Amino acid sequence: MRNYDLDFLKKFSLVILFLIVVTGGLIVLAWSLHGTIAPEESESAALQRLDRIAPVAEVYAGSTGAAAQAAAASAAAAQAASQVAYGGTLDGSVIYNNLCAGCHTSGAGGAPTLLRAQWTARLAQGTETLHRHAIEGFTGAAGVMPARGGNPALSDEQVIASVDWMIENLQ
Ligand code: HEC
Repeated sequence: MRNYDLDFLKKFSLVILFLIVVTGGLIVLAWSLHGTIAPEESESAALQRLDRIAPVAEVYAGSTGAAAQAAAASAAAAQAASQVAYGGTLDGSVIYNNLCAGCHTSGAGGAPTLLRAQWTARLAQGTETLHRHAIEGFTGAAGVMPARGGNPALSDEQVIASVDWMIENLQ
């Protein structure tokens, strides 16, 4: 081989070696960068997978089944609503007008109306007794006061609030 050929080969292989090192460095860099990024799934691939694992058939319960389901759902909703009476309000007037007024405005069954004269003896018992009688129910000379006005969903606080409202609004 001639001398300048050897010289060329030496320089050329140095260049090739340099490029190999650079390529290796880039590969290592790309590898480590790839590891830092969370794998991302394409939307269509996800849809395709869901499609593949979807059940072959579903149960059609018929229109009756749907109606029964709807009825059960509305019954459950109604029950959930009744568990917190009147949306849990502590506004005595709301509870009074929705529930207690049924007896206490007309005086049905001997219930005392909101006339102060009918409450003098009752007020003399003290408010705590009135609260307790309204919560636990009370049978006196006049008639039967049902526990919580007949709505067990009322909380103690709600009954107390409505009793207080009644006392404040005696005429
Ligand atoms: C079904 C009818 C009825 C409903 C509804 C009703 N009450 Fe009465 N309540 C009565 C009757 C009857 C009495 C009188 C009992 C007696 O003294 O013999 C009474 C008495 C009371 C008394 C006086 C208790 C005492 O010791 O003298 C309070 C306070 C009272 N009710 C609060 C309420 C509140 C608050 C509500 C609503 C949450 C309510 N009531 C709903 C019938 C009712």
